Amino acid sequence: MKQVQVNVVGLGYIGLPTALMMAAHGVEVVGTDFKATLVDTLTHGQVTFKEDGLETLYASAVQRGIQFSTAYQKAEIYVVSVPTPYDKVSKKIDASYVMHAVQNVLDVCEQGAVIVVESTIAPGTIDRYIRPLVIERGLRPGVDVHLAHAPERIIPGNMLSELLHNSRTIGADDPAIGEKVRRIYQSFCQGDIEITDIRTAEMTKVVENTYRDINIAFANELLKICRSDGLDVNEIIRISNKHPRVNILSPGPGVGGHCISVDPWFLVGDYPALARLIRLSRETNDGMPAYVLSRVAALMGQLGLHNYARVGFYGLTYKENVDDMRESPTLQLIEKMHDNLAPTPKTYDPMISFDVVDGQYHSFEAFLQDIDVMVVMVHHAHLDENIGLVQNKAVFDTRNCHLNWDASNKLFEL
Ligand SMILES: NC(=O)c1ccc[n+]([C@@H]2O[C@H](COP(=O)([O-])OP(=O)(O)OC[C@H]3O[C@@H](n4cnc5c(N)ncnc54)[C@H](O)[C@@H]3O)[C@@H](O)[C@H]2O)c1
Repeated sequence: MKQVQVNVVGLGYIGLPTALMMAAHGVEVVGTDFKATLVDTLTHGQVTFKEDGLETLYASAVQRGIQFSTAYQKAEIYVVSVPTPYDKVSKKIDASYVMHAVQNVLDVCEQGAVIVVESTIAPGTIDRYIRPLVIERGLRPGVDVHLAHAPERIIPGNMLSELLHNSRTIGADDPAIGEKVRRIYQSFCQGDIEITDIRTAEMTKVVENTYRDINIAFANELLKICRSDGLDVNEIIRISNKHPRVNILSPGPGVGGHCISVDPWFLVGDYPALARLIRLSRETNDGMPAYVLSRVAALMGQLGLHNYARVGFYGLTYKENVDDMRESPTLQLIEKMHDNLAPTPKTYDPMISFDVVDGQYHSFEAFLQDIDVMVVMVHHAHLDENIGLVQNKAVFDTRNCHLNWDASNKLFEL
């Protein structure tokens, strides 16, 4: 079988745009995923999730000859972009998906192949879990097979622009292999590409997301302090951020997604005695959906309302303008917290066209008709476009959306 330049393994939110970007910029690419339905959809002309510009990029990649497959094919470089969840008890990385993908690569790859783990991994994962897989096969890492780590930094909602412009880090045992991997990413990436060792690259990526999680936790704690004393936290953060060395993020209803709400746990799991601030920040952010509910109860009391069946939650995704619901604060709230909630809370999300939870509406008008209190959990652009439909409601805006609400509404902030 002819060997392609790059095989991107795992065609989800990260692997698919990466594979398409490489192919559209002239790299010979095959994309592999073990989900037959996903590969089928891609082979038959459609993308598998919503993201600005993805369809155009897909068309260009197809025109340049990208292939999709469930079977692993030979390549010079394998880019592994599969999920890396954490174990909910030990808080350590669950490396099973990456290990499985690398085993499959080792079944087909030829002498000198490079395996790049693009998935975010706990520091030490390649040494602890991946290098031993190579050695068990009687292969020599650095001679028969080369290992590298090239973590991804892009944000859903602005993925394609960030793929082009973000800087990147590549960790490799051998700088010459780092250069080889850099040449592939340089096909499209206009940002700086740093080459370092694998452990530094692993730690760097986890540190970046942990920094953001701690910063958000600080904002959430400030929110509670200010709320307890009748102060406006958003105004305080706005003014504080005018200080040249202060940059506080925004408080909100919780942190979701497959990155910020997951990666700091890797450090807690591996360094439990040392990662104390990191653990507390994770717990602070994970506690925000419960805080939202306590505020809903307070507002209901303040307004003299008792019927929780007429409280509706706008937004099921973990952030604005994407269709990713992993670790979403709204789902956490609905699934786990039944105090101060109707048995089947009403929800609506314009980005989600299929059924996720009982009580979910697919029409904004019908949703609005059946509620008195709208809790804004996500600030989708759809809300700006349809703001005029929201009338005579108590609007509880957990995102500080700054929208021009109709004067018939009563507005409350987190
Ligand atoms: N989603 C993000 O915003 C984001 C941002 C930066 C980094 N990351 C990291 O990128 C990695 C991938 O995340 P994602 O959001 O793309 O996940 P995802 O769940 O959207 O996609 C993963 C894909 O891998 C496939 N897969 C799993 N095991 C496989 C195997 N052995 N062989 C072939 N295919 C396999 C799955 O079917 C799925 O389609 C994670 O480590 C994540 O932390 C994600």
